[in-house]
Amino acid sequence: MDLWDCPVVVTGAASGLGAETARHLAEAGAKVTMIDIDRAGIEALASEIGGLAIPCDVADEPAAEAAIAQAKDVHGPARILIGCVGVAQPQRIVDGNGKPMPLQNFRHLVEVNLISTFNMMRLVAADMAGLKPGRDGERGVIILTASVSAYEGQIGEAAYAASKGGVVGMILPAARELGSLGIRVVGIAPGLFSTPTLFKLEQNLDPRIARSVPFPRRFGDPAEFAILVVHVIKNTMINGTVLRLDGGYHK
Ligand SMILES: NC(=O)c1ccc[n+]([C@@H]2O[C@H](COP(=O)([O-])OP(=O)(O)OC[C@H]3O[C@@H](n4cnc5c(N)ncnc54)[C@H](O)[C@@H]3O)[C@@H](O)[C@H]2O)c1
Repeated sequence: MDLWDCPVVVTGAASGLGAETARHLAEAGAKVTMIDIDRAGIEALASEIGGLAIPCDVADEPAAEAAIAQAKDVHGPARILIGCVGVAQPQRIVDGNGKPMPLQNFRHLVEVNLISTFNMMRLVAADMAGLKPGRDGERGVIILTASVSAYEGQIGEAAYAASKGGVVGMILPAARELGSLGIRVVGIAPGLFSTPTLFKLEQNLDPRIARSVPFPRRFGDPAEFAILVVHVIKNTMINGTVLRLDGGYHK
């Protein structure tokens, strides 16, 4: 898909992987809508790269619906959705004092990381279905961010890994269903990228962890994630799969 003048929605755009992706897409000429709960963050990014900043808690269903409607009013229906919202709050299922993890904490991560990701996909896909198809009959591309924790979650990551496992699980059925509308659905599962989420997840992150990455022995640069997003958008054959982006790292 050609990015020039193309309406794109990036969720979780205030920081890390989402922010860098929004920068790359704006540079390629896309009309970028940035959605994030961090108002100051997306407003600062919009003043840097242009585009539309919509502050929104994606877990708030009416607010998420209103955000997609506003993006559509301003830029037209999105042809591309990049889902980068994510929260990580490591917590043991049973803590050192024998107390169980509050169920609400598990629910919150699943709500933000999985349910809101599905919600954005369903809203955007419904709008894409009404668009005129482009080259190859393509109407849209949906790229959702999972994590290597979906496959190899660590102690303390039960909720995070479950939420990301849910994202991985819905990529193929969504691609199969939406393929008949000319919409591709692709997941990206990052390994260790230097962003605020990673540093919260791996508390007291030791740079030596990067040495367990076979190659390159360092944390990923958010630009490397953005480059893959742009490639997936342009390469119509990539569909219904989750691409690991991890330098060969296994947790
Ligand atoms: N950084 C890594 O190493 C890594 C590894 C694997 C997966 N991921 C995933 O990549 C995605 C991007 O993560 P990142 O590392 O750039 O993190 P980040 O913390 O830099 O960015 C996440 C963004 O999501 C926003 N957000 C959180 N809750 C929200 C809500 N309810 N509504 C709207 N916005 C909300 C935050 O404000 C933030 O801007 C996440 O889904 C994360 O789980 C990151």
